[in-house]
Order: sequence, then C-alpha cells, then structure tokens
Amino acid sequence: KHCFSKKEDGYLYCEGVRVEDAMQGAERTPFYLYSKDQITRNYEAYRAALEGLKSIVGYAIKANNNYKVLEHLQSLGSGAVLVSGNELRLAVRARFDPTRCIFNGNGKVLEDLVLAAQYGTFVNIDSEFDLENIVMAARIAGKQVKVLLRINPDVDPQVHPYVATGTKTSKFGIRNEKLQWFLDAIKTYPNDIKLVGAHCHLGSTITKVDIFRDAAVLMVKYIDEIRAQGFGVEYLNIGGGLGIDYHHAGAILPTPMDLINTVRELVQSRDLTLIIEPGRSLIANTCCLVNKVTGVKTNGTKNFIVVDGSMAELIRPSLYDAYQHIELVSPPPSDAGVVTYDVVGPVCESADFLGKDRDLPTPTKGSGLVVHDAGAYCMSMASTYNLKMRPPEYWVDNGSVVKIRHGETFEDFMKFFEGL
Ligand code: LLP
Repeated sequence: KHCFSKKEDGYLYCEGVRVEDAMQGAERTPFYLYSKDQITRNYEAYRAALEGLKSIVGYAIKANNNYKVLEHLQSLGSGAVLVSGNELRLAVRARFDPTRCIFNGNGKVLEDLVLAAQYGTFVNIDSEFDLENIVMAARIAGKQVKVLLRINPDVDPQVHPYVATGTKTSKFGIRNEKLQWFLDAIKTYPNDIKLVGAHCHLGSTITKVDIFRDAAVLMVKYIDEIRAQGFGVEYLNIGGGLGIDYHHAGAILPTPMDLINTVRELVQSRDLTLIIEPGRSLIANTCCLVNKVTGVKTNGTKNFIVVDGSMAELIRPSLYDAYQHIELVSPPPSDAGVVTYDVVGPVCESADFLGKDRDLPTPTKGSGLVVHDAGAYCMSMASTYNLKMRPPEYWVDNGSVVKIRHGETFEDFMKFFEGL
C-alpha cells in the first residue's frame, strides 16, 4: 500500500486526505507533505527483513533531517548514521541512542570527532589522517572509541557518477591494499581505539541487489583476514544505497527483504551483527513537494508549466538529471488536452526545472502539482537561492494534516545581519 494515490474521483490523496485540501490549509506553497504511516511501513519493511539477524538500522540523517521525522524513526527503534557533528547533536536531541549511531565521512574534523568520542558513537576510519584525528579525539575525550574500517571494495554500483562512492578512485574509504597498514597502525593505539567492524558504502540509487552481495562477499573476506590477526570484529556495515521506483512505470524493484536476503547467510556464517544505513529507501516515497501552478507558457516548440517550487526547494533534477514523477492533484478541466511540458520554477536560470518532457493535462492557474518521492535529499538539500525561503513541512497523521516544520521567512534571513 502506498500513501499517495489517485482515487476514482480524480483527486490525489495522501492516505485519506485530498492533497488539494492540504493545500487549502497550508501556510503557503510550495510545501512538503508526508505520510507518517508510510514512514512506519518503510521502517517495518526493514525490521521484517532483518528478523532473526543481529542488526542495527542506521537511518542516514542526511537524507532527511526533519526533527519530527527523526523522533518518529527513533521511536520505531532506528539508529542513525551521521556525517557531521551537527547531525550527531540533532540525533541526540531526537533521543537516538548515540551508541547505536555511526559517524561517517572522509573529512571529519577533530571537534566533531571529540563529540562522537564523548557520546560513545561508532566512528568509521576513512584515511590515514582520519585515524590520527580519531586517536587524538579519543585522548581529548578520555574515552576509547569503537571504530570500523571503511573499506572501498571497488564494486561498480551502476549509478550516476555523482552518487557512486565505492569505486577505486572515489574519495571515500581506504583501498584494500592498504588494509595491512591500517591494521598495524590500529594495533599501536590499544587504549584509544577498538576495531569492532568493517564498513563499505557503494553508492546510492542501486537497483540490483547482486551488487550488495558482491560487496558483502569481499567484505567478509576482509573480516576473516582482520579476525585472523586477533581483532574481535563483530560488525559488518554494508552501508545504504537501495534505490526506489522513481519512475512509477510498473517496474518491480528489489525490496529491503531482497537486499537483506542476499547477505543474510554470509552474515550469519561469521556470527556478525549487520549494520545497514538506508536513507532513500526509508524516506523518499513518504513525501511529495506540493506546488501551485503560476501559469502555462509556450516558447517556440517548448511548452512550460511554471510552478512556485523550484531548484531551491528540490535540486535533484537539476543536479543529477534525476527523474521524479510529476502529477496534478485535481482533475483538469474536461477540455484540457494532454501536452508535453517542461515543469519549471521561477528561479533565474535554465537549470531550474523539476521535470522535462512530461505529458500532462494543461492545468489551470492556481491548481496543485506534485513532485513525488521527495522525502530524501530534497528538503535536506534545499537552499535559499533567489531568496526562496525553505518551505514548510506537514505530515498526515491519523487522518489529519499536521505541521512538522515552519516555513522559513524573510525575517529569519534578516536575523543573520542583526547587530552587525
Ligand atoms: N551511508 C553512507 C556512508 C552514505 O554516504 C549514504 C549516502 C548513505 C548511507 C545513505 O544512502 P541511501 O540509502 O540514501 O542511498 N544526494 C544524492 C544522494 C547522495 C547519497 C550520499 N550518501 C541524491 O539526491 O540522490
């Protein structure tokens, strides 16, 4: 069951609520609209898939950092994956158990590492200098830090190059030929760090689970090598990256169950605890960006629907040429013909589009248009370009629309200059 669906009356619904009604009640457009129940269902899909395995679900906060969303995921039992000190602070505020959080990144700064050490958060070692900094942080905090080695397994995730992270020349992780150097180095800091696991992350939007299996086979081999040298390694972290069905064209994509099943036996054969770091597959399909149509225009052979949302609120199409499905929220006038449109925003550059070459009925001014699957890497990547302030967010909870984040205002912006 999916939260957003068009009913026989021709209106788009989020759970039981007409999106058009949510528009009427909203502070302004554009806004993000979520289904709280869909978040629950997505988390439960991981929980069911992990049944019988020792595991930690580390939700990747970078995908969506709405505080209410985090509180909800935490209440369902999720851990978290962080890439900055502020994401760690936020996780702690949202009551995630910091000892079930993992701090990832190729450029972690000392100050943030000290915070992680104080909280007892797992830290991934990404490079020689990162190891040095983690040891220093442990000494400053006076705590032994549990570390995982982020190994770059050189498996091609078959995705857009901007979201591939585990290939030979990527900036993340350590190459396997350096493994022995790292093991020797770690042995020299027994009081400061404890090697407890190995981590890899291949990339994002992965739609073939064999790729995860290929990586897990390699990772288990590394874990065997590491254990053979006397380290008590307990965790295999296979990262995030499971893709979702952005196209809404009837494709059948692998589920969390499919993903976990490809690695289950490997994990059990070594008595490991599996850490998994989903972002997109937990949160993307729980949310739409709801826009209002400003007008329709034609230039030469190109037809445009101009809406009030833009690359400032949702940059994935502009940045990755990503496809996100677009539809109108209410039935078009009966005489509206279907036309091929580019759906664009008001931002002053041609990169500002939400969708290209979409066949849509000609909408009336003021009507609603949604961009689907906007729960991951949309609001969290929003900017205030052209002073389009970040939009408000709502979710449908128990049949009612509830605000879960205020829209940013012009006055919020002016606060940065107060007293200067
Ligand atoms: N773990 C690590 C170490 C990561 O780098 C990421 C995402 C994840 C987990 C979560 O991956 P997911 O399950 O969400 O695919 N902004 C891009 C995606 C960047 C992903 C960065 N790393 C986009 O909008 O497609």
